[in-house]
Amino acid sequence: MVTRRGFLTGLALTPVVYAAGCSVRTSSAPAAVAGTRALPIPPLAPSTLGADGVRRFALRAQTGNTEMLRGSSTPTWGYSGSVLGPTVRARRGEQVEFTVTNGLPEATSVHWHGMHLPAKFDGGPHQMIAPGATWTPRWTVQQQAATLWYHPHPHGATEKHVQRGLSGFFLIDDEDADALALPKDYGVDDIPLVIQDRRFTAEGSIDESDPTDIGLLGDTIVTNGIAGAHLTVTTERVRLRILNGSSGRLYNLALADGRTFHLVGTDGGLLPKPVALEQLQLSPGERAELVVAMSPGELLKLRSLPITDRDGIDRPTEFGFDDTFDILDLRAADTLRPAAALPATLVPMTALTAASTPATRSFDLQWFMINNQRMDMNRIDLTVPVDTTEVWSVRNKDNWPHNFHVHDVQFQVLTVDGKPPPPALSGWKDTVYTSSGTTYTLAMRFADHTDPTYPYMYHCHLLHHEDQGMMGQFLVLAPGQRPAPMAMDTGSTHHG
Ligand code: C2O
Ligand code: CU
Ligand code: CU
Repeated sequence: MVTRRGFLTGLALTPVVYAAGCSVRTSSAPAAVAGTRALPIPPLAPSTLGADGVRRFALRAQTGNTEMLRGSSTPTWGYSGSVLGPTVRARRGEQVEFTVTNGLPEATSVHWHGMHLPAKFDGGPHQMIAPGATWTPRWTVQQQAATLWYHPHPHGATEKHVQRGLSGFFLIDDEDADALALPKDYGVDDIPLVIQDRRFTAEGSIDESDPTDIGLLGDTIVTNGIAGAHLTVTTERVRLRILNGSSGRLYNLALADGRTFHLVGTDGGLLPKPVALEQLQLSPGERAELVVAMSPGELLKLRSLPITDRDGIDRPTEFGFDDTFDILDLRAADTLRPAAALPATLVPMTALTAASTPATRSFDLQWFMINNQRMDMNRIDLTVPVDTTEVWSVRNKDNWPHNFHVHDVQFQVLTVDGKPPPPALSGWKDTVYTSSGTTYTLAMRFADHTDPTYPYMYHCHLLHHEDQGMMGQFLVLAPGQRPAPMAMDTGSTHHG
């Protein structure tokens, strides 16, 4: 187990003057990274189990410096550390409580992406934490084992807060997952891996200038907070819990020699059975759990290839679709601990069936708008009656890439342009990429957690688009309940 101390030491560095000869990079062409460093493994978040049965965690958003580039000190933001955040783990059925303190110079929030929980604890733009203030959400984890994450959600500033480093993993465990012969030794053969792209200034700061129409696009890949990382693999199979934590970049993940890997989990948990793949596209906010088989002594590169799904995209080069990156070196030790064969089946999934007259809703994605509107904190876009299964139809009618994320629920992709979804979309999802000109139908169940006051969000998870207002709000209401939203003063954060 990698200790918290080891992680922090690995990332901390006193400021160093950046070596001469490095100019500001202006294109999104991949930058070369010399040598590699060991992939940092985020520490597990400490918790205490109270006599009341509540598991309590503390997180502090704070500023710091991180050696993202070797020999360079980058000002960054992190949770309880200089960058990213500790990995939170909790079990299905457990009650969890967080004491979130804001040690940043500006207001932020902490959203539990992928979590089913009451809207007032969702951590969206209605749950801002002022500098120096503390927020204490508490809920019961009611969903299957999954790789979720947490990140800031301040309206109009999410891209900046995430870009500076605020993101962490939130892993849910349960008995179904425990019983499976999957790699599950955290930091050894079960590896959290957040992939982000960054552009640095000559001084080594994160360059927040010049967003493209899909936001800030970097020329340097950072994994778990550093550029140029390797993972020493000591087992015959390694499980990578991958999060695309980038603002706007898509990755088309592959292994450099083209070998097959297995997708075992998507956003909302493990699949019914492993899916053999050679490439997997991940858009911002999506997660994938992969199992990769290795031979003793070999070096295998996890790579991102050019994006092949590009029909209808007007400027694919500007959006980084042509780029190839080495993401992570997987270095197998000379002797590998044997691993059990991959289970043939994983976790069964019951198909969601909508009521006889499903309340089907449509969402058109275009420019910075959903259904021709930008986000208004004071507008409830739709209300959902509790205890219903709905089918949402989402269409990308644009020549820009977009994806679609819904808070509160995990959904099932029913169709893609009327056809059954590809195997990579066969599991639980909370974020789905939408190809240009394509319509997706999504089934989701709103089981509980009614609230007439606090809404949940749905939005494009390309963070620049979200910040520009490509987002809407919905309330889940009990029978007879009427919306009673709170008026928000949005003058300082609304970008209209
Ligand atoms: Cu990960 Cu509303 O976002
Ligand atoms: Cu979310
Ligand atoms: Cu978008």
